[in-house]
Amino acid sequence: MERLVIKGGVPLKGKVKISGAKNAALPCIAATILCPGRHVISNVPRLRDVNTILEMVGTLGCDFQWEGETVSINTDRLMSYECPYELVRTMRASILLLGPLLVREGRAKISLPGGCAIGARPVNLHLKALSQMGAQMHLDRGYIFARAERLKGAEIFFDIPTVTGTENVMMAAVLAEGKTLIRNAAKEPEIVDLARFLRSMGAQISGDGTDTIVVEGVRELRAGSISIIPDRIETGTYMLAGAITQGEVEIYSCIPEHVNALVEKLRETGIEVSVGEEMIRVRGSNEISAVDVITMPYPGFPTDLQAQYMALMSIARGSCVIEETIFENRFIHVAELQRMGAKIEVNGNKAYVRGQKRLLAAPVMATDLRASASLILAGLVAQGGYTEVHRIYHLDRGYENIEKKLSDLGAILWREKV
Ligand code: EPU
Repeated sequence: MERLVIKGGVPLKGKVKISGAKNAALPCIAATILCPGRHVISNVPRLRDVNTILEMVGTLGCDFQWEGETVSINTDRLMSYECPYELVRTMRASILLLGPLLVREGRAKISLPGGCAIGARPVNLHLKALSQMGAQMHLDRGYIFARAERLKGAEIFFDIPTVTGTENVMMAAVLAEGKTLIRNAAKEPEIVDLARFLRSMGAQISGDGTDTIVVEGVRELRAGSISIIPDRIETGTYMLAGAITQGEVEIYSCIPEHVNALVEKLRETGIEVSVGEEMIRVRGSNEISAVDVITMPYPGFPTDLQAQYMALMSIARGSCVIEETIFENRFIHVAELQRMGAKIEVNGNKAYVRGQKRLLAAPVMATDLRASASLILAGLVAQGGYTEVHRIYHLDRGYENIEKKLSDLGAILWREKV
């Protein structure tokens, strides 16, 4: 086990380059198994979740090769249609292989992802939609068994706009017979990236980025290529790192439009944010005002930045309410922030944060990916010693080279074995 040790109090200064988006890379890698060929995906972040899905594609019989930040995947041979529990339990996004496997192999056996630290996270909407497209599904001893000859286009209405659910249906629909309409679809930029990749393979998709996506099934696909968009959650995390340390950070190779909700929120708190082409500059202020936030599907304020924003609000002037509407259990970082002196009370899906003059260094435990980032932000401003963030393996799932990027901005932190 490893932990991260942070000595807080240094205002971060300098430039930081944003890596490719984890949540765009994962569905694109899953989509490669839709048809044989050598697919090329560039700007892929070197992260544990990416390695997990590549390993999964490898166990299905495909080969892949890295060259810098480009991964080529040869999917000519597929020898299995099964994603075992051992891999799925380490990454819920493995469910993204369900649609592609059904299309390519006519069947799939995928371990049912269990709950996780942020909520129950069922996949019922994925299963219902694929059944509507003609797949036969049943659950047995923790596995999803799915079968279909050729899927049929259908009109799908999602009760909740689900990101990976929308992606699964898009992938299932590209080679289906006829037209699929996805209503109340998720509108996240990662969906648009997947649509771009599928189009490079010959798919006919329109409406991605809106709440109605239309997929016209085609007979055949070819190998595709794409350069993955920059990670908007990593972008937001570094914006908040600049803000919380009262530093001056320039974030480049990013898409400012994808973090509009955070840009507006930070400006309301009194932090100076300037936006250029593929660049955002954040200048912290010593008078941060507390401002309420409510998480929403894109383009609303992302749930994946809620924990990091809470770290900032812990040292803001005044009180605010942070409301989580996406995942029912996404406040586990609260208890850890409290260990550092934050004053937060949780009632249902609302956290009431009373800003304090300072946070104090303490040993804390990371519970999920974004909670880890929140604790690091808190550690960067904590006074009176060293903050130790335990269980940082969560962090390696989603932040590429975070220690190096933060040290290059002047932060004092290092990783050590426990
Ligand atoms: N939901 C259902 N049934 C379903 C699917 C979803 O009830 O069949 C509910 C969920 O429980 C949740 C809501 O719908 O309350 C939205 O969940 P969604 O399906 O959109 O989440 P996801 O696709 O599992 C993706 C990201 C998450 C991100 C969420 C929300 C990937 C691989 N993961 O998850 O990213 O938090 O969308 O934006 O794209 C992360 O990167 O740290 C992360 C957790």
